[in-house]
Amino acid sequence: MSPAASPPEALGDALRRRLFDVTGLRTVVTGAASGLGYAMAEAMALSGAHVILVDRNAEGLRAAQDRLAQQGGSVEAEVVDVADQAAVEALFERLRERHGGVEVVFANAGIGARPNILHPDGGLDRLALDTWHRVMDINLHGAFYTMRGAAALMKPKRRGAIVVTASTAGLRPEPKVSYAYVTAKAALVNLVRQAALELAPWGIRVNAIAPGPFHTNIGGPGPRPPEDEAAWIRTIPLGRFGEPPEIQGLALFLASPASSFVTGAVYPIDGGASALTQVTADSLGPG
Ligand SMILES: NC(=O)c1ccc[n+]([C@@H]2O[C@H](COP(=O)([O-])OP(=O)(O)OC[C@H]3O[C@@H](n4cnc5c(N)ncnc54)[C@H](O)[C@@H]3O)[C@@H](O)[C@H]2O)c1
Repeated sequence: MSPAASPPEALGDALRRRLFDVTGLRTVVTGAASGLGYAMAEAMALSGAHVILVDRNAEGLRAAQDRLAQQGGSVEAEVVDVADQAAVEALFERLRERHGGVEVVFANAGIGARPNILHPDGGLDRLALDTWHRVMDINLHGAFYTMRGAAALMKPKRRGAIVVTASTAGLRPEPKVSYAYVTAKAALVNLVRQAALELAPWGIRVNAIAPGPFHTNIGGPGPRPPEDEAAWIRTIPLGRFGEPPEIQGLALFLASPASSFVTGAVYPIDGGASALTQVTADSLGPG
């Protein structure tokens, strides 16, 4: 049998370009000064989108903007606290005036919260209510305000993609995480599905990514305590944390024509953690 002829390289190039073409798409990324948000912003900017970087950390935001601009990215920056409903509404109003609309919005900004439920002060009867409310305000309400702003700008154009950063901790209980965090992320998952139903007739797709543990600044600057890192790694079949650039393929997929038939979906990106049950963990032996 003679070997099959390979398709001309140019056809493959054209296919990849068409699938992942985000050229010129006006893209908002919240929490863009650090971690996963920065990586998503980089993926979009280096692929030719115009990226509006949003964060409450003005200094970090400036550094992110400089880095991406130096690499040739088309970027602008907006210092906004996503928990401030009026500020988020004003942001999208400014974007309407400046750009006429936006095509892609990553509602990504979020914080971690200590203590987890293994700590005595993380128990239902003990946890500090101000922590609970702060996490809800940023991780749930902040994403909700961002999605609202996105929908308002996208509906008139009948086009758009919204991508929300949830967490594997929103898909199942996670004792190494606080009540507030798991609750906010679980709520986001259903918010995404509900919004996908409402916005489908408007040509707007809404999806969630559910990361497992990634090395970012969410636990504060600097490395995690080794015992903490080891406890997480025992739950990850690939045997390590994710690194922020590993989110870029999924981010680009969900923002681009490659995912044109995908909405209301929730994508774990977690080194296999959400596939691991107690039974499978036991059979894999000590981590
Ligand atoms: N790193 C992980 O292991 C992990 C796992 C699952 C989900 N996530 C989620 O990923 C998202 C990004 O987190 P990360 O890990 O990159 O953390 P990170 O701390 O490195 O980055 C978060 C960014 O969001 C910004 N931010 C926080 N609160 C804000 C607010 N109120 N308004 C505007 N900006 C705000 C911070 O200033 C920071 O720049 C979060 O929603 C987080 O819950 C992270």
